[in-house]
Amino acid sequence: MRKNIVAGNWKMNTTVAEGVALAKEVNEALKAEKANCDVVICVPFTHLCPVAAVIDQTVLGLGAENCADHTSGAYTGEVSASMVASTTAKYVILGHSERRQYYGETSETLREKVALALANGLKPIFCIGEVLAERENGTYNEVVRRQVEEGLFNLSAEDFGKIILAYEPVWAIGTGKTATAEQAEDMHAFIRGVIAEKYGKEVAENTSILYGGSCKPSNAAELFAKPDVDGGLIGGASLKCADFMGIVKAF
Ligand code: PGA
Repeated sequence: MRKNIVAGNWKMNTTVAEGVALAKEVNEALKAEKANCDVVICVPFTHLCPVAAVIDQTVLGLGAENCADHTSGAYTGEVSASMVASTTAKYVILGHSERRQYYGETSETLREKVALALANGLKPIFCIGEVLAERENGTYNEVVRRQVEEGLFNLSAEDFGKIILAYEPVWAIGTGKTATAEQAEDMHAFIRGVIAEKYGKEVAENTSILYGGSCKPSNAAELFAKPDVDGGLIGGASLKCADFMGIVKAF
């Protein structure tokens, strides 16, 4: 059966010292009180090694927030999937809306990133979600369907089985405006149906689909209670141990 997962997305926040302290605090909290779900933190590239050195990855998983769409070579400033894997991180966020919006990531580049992540044993947390105008004009299902199909449906069923999806309506990210639990459930069930059409019911049932967008301790339990919401991808609230643990405890 699919896993419930709460994953933090630190984005471009914290110095190394601050990040190491936060990771230690979350790790200690999880040791003191065992979580009823997998817990992961996705951190800036600079933080991967020092954070890996202070956490127990059997308790707290570690991931990057991106990786390159090339294997190696003359790509100044890029960080490859094999470099991420060499830090002992096991996850990588791909296709976050901020990367699509500000760094021009397309389904084409994302297919390369997904392939390289998988080839290096990383589990992609693949993000999808509509912008406000698409929510308002009613095209959101088709937008999300296209993101899933174009980004992932070149994969074999076996490889698709290694993907974690994160539905993040762009209008809910960092805005304090959470999707209602019903809106999230409707979309998650829709996405699961799209996966079932392509890979069959079993693969669809085994795929973890996380919700992201202003998820916090006060709304996590209601969201996670929905049958197709298998956890959360947490931005702002992952930067404070108490808030992040409050969301983990919603399971
Ligand atoms: P937020 O971000 O929780 O701060 O809304 C979620 C995300 O972008 O992954």
